[in-house]
Amino acid sequence: MSRTSRHYVVGVAGLGILRTWLSADPDRMDEATAHLVRLATGNQPELGIALDVPEYGVVDGYARWAANYDLMPNALIRLEEPVVHALVDAWPKGVVLDAACGTGRHARHLAARGHRVIGVDATPEMLAHARRALPDTDLRDGDLAALPVETASVDAAVCALALQHCERLGPPVTELARVVRPGGRLVVSDFHPMQVLLGMSAFFIAADGRAGQVRSHPHLHADYLAAFAAAGLRVVRCVEPAAGEEEVALMSGGLMGVAPDAFRDALVGIPAALVWDLVRDPA
Ligand SMILES: C[S@@+](CC[C@H](N)C(=O)[O-])C[C@H]1O[C@@H](n2cnc3c(N)ncnc32)[C@H](O)[C@@H]1O
Repeated sequence: MSRTSRHYVVGVAGLGILRTWLSADPDRMDEATAHLVRLATGNQPELGIALDVPEYGVVDGYARWAANYDLMPNALIRLEEPVVHALVDAWPKGVVLDAACGTGRHARHLAARGHRVIGVDATPEMLAHARRALPDTDLRDGDLAALPVETASVDAAVCALALQHCERLGPPVTELARVVRPGGRLVVSDFHPMQVLLGMSAFFIAADGRAGQVRSHPHLHADYLAAFAAAGLRVVRCVEPAAGEEEVALMSGGLMGVAPDAFRDALVGIPAALVWDLVRDPA
């Protein structure tokens, strides 16, 4: 027995039925249920693709993902990036930390806007890409739970799509608050907990064509609010961009054509990113 594309598509179809069973016309429910049975038992070749998706630790997983990270279309980044840009573009020029900067996606944007950027990440292969793109930027190896950055030394910080990989929010959030000066700003983005609770994780195809995943932890809003309050961070705004049809097509990994209505019913409208705009309490 192996994990196949059929398991994924049948699961999506079941979720689509669950989400619409009280709102859709009963005839449509019958059709969707009959379609689910055909998906479960039919012999379409798209449903027989074997999916070997080993789980990696953060550093091993992102080491494998690094070469492809900026090349593969990514539904989450498509939704997250405009929201984060709109928030950080309001910051006055200053010293800005990109914590868990990866290949430097936000660091590049911040540097282009005239900030003095410090980047920190735990995965050397991700940092190597950032260093190639930003040879003059201060990029440091380090962990979110013990940032190699002086206390109150940055005017603002971004931490994008990384806290999902931390089992507990307290240590990294405390560190982020420590390094931002009183009154400074912080933008935190993450994979939305609703997606994580639906079984999604940081799934990737490495340059060698092999799939993998890095475990995501479902941090609920209550968890974030407790961690922010304990660290002296005040919430200014919370934004939850939701997947539309184009993002769902990306999330389907090329399988949307097998069951378009099921993918739409299941995943359109579910938030994919969670973005917090925060301010550090004045001392
Ligand atoms: C999904 S990538 C996001 C990279 C970049 N922030 C972006 O949004 O494109 C997650 C990054 O977080 C880093 N990361 C995860 N946990 C970390 C930790 N505890 N300390 C430092 N970096 C971490 C990984 O190495 C990886 O580069």
